[in-house]
Amino acid sequence: MSAPTPRVVCVSGGTSGIGAALVGRFLELGARVYTFGRDPARLARLRAAYPEAVVGERLLALTGDATDAAFRSRLVEEIRTRDGRLDVLINNAGVILDVGTLEAELEQWRATLEVNLVAPFALTQCAAPLLEHSAAPVVINLSSACAGHPFASCTSTSYSVSKAGLDMLTQRLALALGERGIRVNGVAPGVVDSEMWGEARALMAETVARRHVLGGEVVRPEDVADAVEFLASARARLITGATLKVDAGYTLG
Ligand SMILES: NC(=O)c1ccc[n+]([C@@H]2O[C@H](COP(=O)([O-])OP(=O)(O)OC[C@H]3O[C@@H](n4cnc5c(N)ncnc54)[C@H](OP(=O)(O)O)[C@@H]3O)[C@@H](O)[C@H]2O)c1
Repeated sequence: MSAPTPRVVCVSGGTSGIGAALVGRFLELGARVYTFGRDPARLARLRAAYPEAVVGERLLALTGDATDAAFRSRLVEEIRTRDGRLDVLINNAGVILDVGTLEAELEQWRATLEVNLVAPFALTQCAAPLLEHSAAPVVINLSSACAGHPFASCTSTSYSVSKAGLDMLTQRLALALGERGIRVNGVAPGVVDSEMWGEARALMAETVARRHVLGGEVVRPEDVADAVEFLASARARLITGATLKVDAGYTLG
């Protein structure tokens, strides 16, 4: 039996990069998409890209911080009131603070872990009762190639550690939520051509692409959205606790 097309989707940090591609993808698939971010300018840009979806209330782009417990509760309440269930939760919001391993301030460490690791747990915990009301619920966590590889070129140790923790969280949540019929998976991109890299974006993408096993192509947010779409679909109905690499073979080298 095939599951229905996901219709109620929540993407954290959908105002940029991979998150914005995920919002676009699930809107294309006919879903109602809830997303949020902190920067009002980025939110305005996202809303402007999908005016009809905003007017038709298929895109709800809210101002909010994934690390704010009160906001998480409001978001879940908003979804409950409007839809009564959640089909797909994508923990995408993430930050990287580019400082050397021993130079990092403890506050920077804590801030990274709060966004990249604690918030995905907390939002999943808060949304679990709504996911239970879906016919085919799934949680997808945005991990990273850095989770399993201590690349010297990735200077942010707090980032790598947060993503390694997220991979274990994916498996632990898959165990805990499996009996309620909720699948939990991850996607681990290599270097993706996104705003996350700031001014180093073009150089980063090009340098890494040269080291890809698959022909020097840059990984785009849309490539990551393809993997997420698959994991959210009925074709992945027996896949849980898995993290799928999307890195053009980068981590093989
Ligand atoms: N780009 C890569 O090479 C790459 C590789 C592997 C994994 N990833 C992972 O993929 C995910 C998306 O990355 P990206 O490249 O798309 O990054 P990005 O372009 O920097 O986008 C990050 C998004 O997260 C939001 N965000 C950050 N902190 C937040 C918070 N506390 N609360 C709510 N929203 C928050 C940002 O909006 P505001 O700043 O306005 O809040 C933005 O919408 C991240 O988890 C990242 O670690 C990226």
